[in-house]
Amino acid sequence: MSQTEQSIANDRFRSVLGSYPTGVAVVTGLDQQGEAIGMVVGTFTSVSMNPPLVAFLPMKTSRTFQNLREASDKFSINILAADQEGICRTLASPGERKFDAVDWHLSPAGNPIINGVVAWIDCEYANVLEGGDHFIVLGSVKDMGLERDTTPLLFFQRGYGSFSTGPMVLASERETLQCARLAEVARNEIESLANELQMECSLVAPVGNDAVYVAVANHNPENDNPSHLGVRVPLTPPLGTLFIGHENALSEDEWIARLGNKASPDTVAKARSKLSSVQARGWSASLLGNLSADQLEQAVTMYSNPQRTPEQERHFLSSVSTMFDLHEPDELDINEKHDMLHLSVPVRKPNGEVALALRLSEFPSQLSGEIVHSYLQKLQKTAVTIEHLIAAQPEQSVH
Ligand SMILES: Cc1cc2nc3c(=O)[nH]c(=O)nc-3n(C[C@H](O)[C@H](O)[C@H](O)COP(=O)(O)O)c2cc1C
Repeated sequence: MSQTEQSIANDRFRSVLGSYPTGVAVVTGLDQQGEAIGMVVGTFTSVSMNPPLVAFLPMKTSRTFQNLREASDKFSINILAADQEGICRTLASPGERKFDAVDWHLSPAGNPIINGVVAWIDCEYANVLEGGDHFIVLGSVKDMGLERDTTPLLFFQRGYGSFSTGPMVLASERETLQCARLAEVARNEIESLANELQMECSLVAPVGNDAVYVAVANHNPENDNPSHLGVRVPLTPPLGTLFIGHENALSEDEWIARLGNKASPDTVAKARSKLSSVQARGWSASLLGNLSADQLEQAVTMYSNPQRTPEQERHFLSSVSTMFDLHEPDELDINEKHDMLHLSVPVRKPNGEVALALRLSEFPSQLSGEIVHSYLQKLQKTAVTIEHLIAAQPEQSVH
């Protein structure tokens, strides 16, 4: 053993390597009596695509690994989901017949698959190498499947956690309090507008990379959708135009960058032109198009779930881009009928920064342009009232 190896204390080794996060998998199989057995590993990794190989590293002293290996030439890797921490703890603790406490079924090769895992991989032993106090087990992949479209369980610094996509910026305490305060100030105004128009009237606030519904009043007797309160919409072109360049939101360039580097110059130009026309006219609108309100509802509910996967997020953002032309139409012809998704106006703080968007949604279908314009005037009037109420609030410092 070299000088350096000797001088690394176990605690230091654990704490430095514990700073690298891993997923959590369970290696499963049947023992010689045909009972399901398995061990929790953080060392599962993919190795090679051609030929398909994976690996995990059991301690040489592991009895479970010994039992697995003696009983069979095959095993299955189960990738645990974020909500399976309890199962992980059960299986990682010492004891017999631990699978009695877990629901599972058999894989095509006859290995246990724990119900609700993200994915499973049936393997045969390709090689078992030595690696210090561990074995390095190479598994030859025979079959595999995705079981559940959800985020995986993660392990980091000896604690469990879950994955959240990068742009999900949580509001700081200061931002949350600010939003709650503004929503409270405007509560009566949005209630009375929703009542007058028999529609949904809400306040939406920019929080990092998203816009969040912070207050919702709904008096549409036909609406049985769940409340939008707390729902998030990404500030991604063409969404979020009222907030771009203002406090707590993205700059114009950051907003454009969210289109990704594959966006065509034409798309970028369209996004910039929609933004400047919204800023010039002072209102934002979107049409419903071919999407049903239910489809939209499902999409935003999915995006608002902090456990959304990157794949689900990409799917959402690409469906937003197919609706590009429905957002910020140049005009809403007074003589035509419109299927509106929302109509929104900015609510400014005394310093001119846009603090909130005041939004009407859940419109009746085929609304005449004349009515839409009259609703816009009512929205603008209510926004001015809310701006006066905000200006009349004593300055409150939040630390
Ligand atoms: C998150 C997590 C990751 C683990 N990773 C490994 C691993 O990669 N290799 C290993 O041998 N044990 C690992 N363990 C420990 C085993 O799950 C198990 O507790 C240990 O092998 C028990 O030994 P036994 O098989 O003799 O009962 C891990 C435990 C936890 C909770």
